[in-house]
Parts: sequence; C-alpha cells; structure tokens
Amino acid sequence: MKVLIINGSPRINGNSSKLVDELTNVFKKEKIDIEVFQIGGKAIRGCLACGYCLEKHECVIKDEVNQLAKSFDESDGLVIVSPVYYGSANGSIISLLDRLFYSSNFDKRFKVGAAFAVARRAGTTTTFDELNKYFTIAQMPIASGRYWNNGFGREKGQIEKDEEGLQNAQIVAKNMVFLMKAIKDAKDKYGLPEKKETKYTHFIR
Ligand SMILES: Cc1cc2nc3c(=O)[nH]c(=O)nc-3n(C[C@H](O)[C@H](O)[C@H](O)COP(=O)(O)O)c2cc1C
Repeated sequence: MKVLIINGSPRINGNSSKLVDELTNVFKKEKIDIEVFQIGGKAIRGCLACGYCLEKHECVIKDEVNQLAKSFDESDGLVIVSPVYYGSANGSIISLLDRLFYSSNFDKRFKVGAAFAVARRAGTTTTFDELNKYFTIAQMPIASGRYWNNGFGREKGQIEKDEEGLQNAQIVAKNMVFLMKAIKDAKDKYGLPEKKETKYTHFIR
C-alpha cells in the first residue's frame, strides 16, 4: 500500500514539514510506502482552462503535476498538507491540486484522502474544508481524526509545541491506514460500485 503526501509549503523544514514527519512516522511503522512531494520554491502555475487535458488526460503544462498524477494513480491514499495564507490554502497548492484533479482521468474512487492546515492563528477550518473538497468531488472517503486537522506555529518548528495537533495527525494517519486496508479487502470481496458516466447539467438557460 502506498500514500502520496503533498506539502504545499515553500518553507523547507517548516511547520507543515514537521506535521508531515509525524504522519510518515506512523506510515513507516505500518509498513506503508510513502512518497512525499513538497512544492518548496517550485513555480507551479494555475490551470489555463485550455481543454488540452479533456482529450489527452494530462496537463499541457509540463511540470511536476503530470508525474504526481502517476504517483497518485499508484497510491491508495493522498494526504494534502498546506500552510494557511490569508485564511486559505496557499496559492501554489491550489494551483497544483486544480490541475492534478482536473487533468487526470484515472479512477480516484475509494482512494482515501486526508487534509491538514497549518497556521499561526486562524483560518485552519476554512482551509481544511477547502482541501477536503478535492476528495469529495472525486468519490474519495476521508480519514478523520479527533479535531478538524490543524497544527499551529509561526516560526519554523513552533508546531512541535502543539502536542494536540501532532497527536491528532498520528490518529488520522492510523485511521487512514485502517480505511485503506478495509477498502482493499472490500474491493477484493465485493468490487467497486458500478461507475456511472456523469450527466453534466450546467446552470444556463
Ligand atoms: C503570505 C502569508 C499569509 C499568511 N496568512 C495566515 C493566515 O491567514 N492565518 C494564520 O494563522 N497564519 C498565516 N500565515 C502564517 C503561516 O500560516 C504560518 O507561519 C505557518 O506555520 C506556515 O507553515 P510552514 O512553516 O509550513 O510554511 C501566513 C503566512 C504567510 C507567508
């Protein structure tokens, strides 16, 4: 089993990275393969709405996103960790996720998702909701914890004092492993529900 972890922070060894470490410790103990991708200083630009992917099923912008799509396809779970910028996930991770989810067409159903928001003080719950939207439009169940997944700190490393946030991350990681295993067993036993073609209904008159 494999989990892909995407860290939106530009800061190397920042607070999001510490939270990622907390998750990877659990996944390693549970013998789950892990791939961590941090945006760091990479210039991940936003979706061009060009329609190229609707035919080619990959993004026209040739950066890390197409490679991440392959990793996501191979994975049983996806974790997104984002710093909070102005009450939202940071711009780079939104650019990445819009393109990753929109351009790829492999079956994402029943891959397990988990999102975390890291902030100095406020905006974690809006960011958590925002990130969960990528999962809930893709028929991906969400592994939850004992709070709305957050972690607090301003300067690098301050999140280490947020014992509750880090403990919650461990709980979510364990729950995620349980869900991935349970879903694998259920897939083997029952198969996935029948896939339906979407009936697109645009709100136009
Ligand atoms: C452009 C910018 C906007 C920010 N906006 C918020 C915010 O809305 N709420 C908040 O609590 N912290 C905000 N912060 C602080 C970061 O969320 C905080 O420092 C966090 O620990 C950064 O995570 P990182 O170390 O993984 O990059 C902001 C930081 C930056 C650089």
